[in-house]
Amino acid sequence: PPTGPLVGRRVVVTAGGTREPIDPVRFIGNRSSGKMGTSIAEACARRGARVDLVTTASGLPVPPGVRALHVDTALEMREAVRGLTADADAIVKAAAVADFRPASYHDQKLKKEADGLAEVVLTRNPDILAELGRERGPEGPLLVGFAAETDLEEERGREKLHDKGIDLIVINRVDMADAGFGVDTNRALLLTAQGGRTEVPLTTKSRLAEVLCNELEHLLAERDRG
Ligand code: PMT
Repeated sequence: PPTGPLVGRRVVVTAGGTREPIDPVRFIGNRSSGKMGTSIAEACARRGARVDLVTTASGLPVPPGVRALHVDTALEMREAVRGLTADADAIVKAAAVADFRPASYHDQKLKKEADGLAEVVLTRNPDILAELGRERGPEGPLLVGFAAETDLEEERGREKLHDKGIDLIVINRVDMADAGFGVDTNRALLLTAQGGRTEVPLTTKSRLAEVLCNELEHLLAERDRG
């Protein structure tokens, strides 16, 4: 049986970049590999939590003790996360969700010239995290967001924390070769709704996941005390 400080907790983690299909061969996507989210799922499971990983990263191994649900699009990710919300103690949204998707899907491959591929009309995707923040009651799960930024600008991070109604935001750099998308390392600043602030200089994504788990344990314990 699992042991560790997160035994009895259920954690939902999202990882990877959503892919929004245009036709059977093309999609709009982003450069998220799923490494950050998968590291967080692994760290939570190692501490004894029951972990559901909602991920677009089909190529990454699923860590021991983690249940993976594979999705492609933002709408699929939203459905999967919503289905797990009622039982969750914490939801960690490390995924890079496409803000827009093509307004219509063509089930035949579009022809370069004839089908107007040069102009793809987009429509807004729902903000999964902001929805969770709006809809949760007092018994609802702890909500953790990530922010992909080109600096660790604190003020904007605090704004996102409050606008989305979440408990913790991890601002990470995506403009440096050793942080953000794709690589095994990261640089981050963690801000909590209660004013907590933890800077994490260059480190591995696994180590950043451990720092995040420490923070999660602390926030969950605080919430238990009311
Ligand atoms: O996967 P890797 O290659 O390891 O890279 C990791 C990462 C850089 C992708 C990751 O650490 C990260 O920063 N993820 C969040 C990227 C992002 O989408 O940031 P954002 O500022 O657009 O979104 C803020 C938060 O809202 C995120 O928690 C996001 O999951 C959530 N969101 C955003 C849009 C949307 N429609 N729905 C959401 O839930």
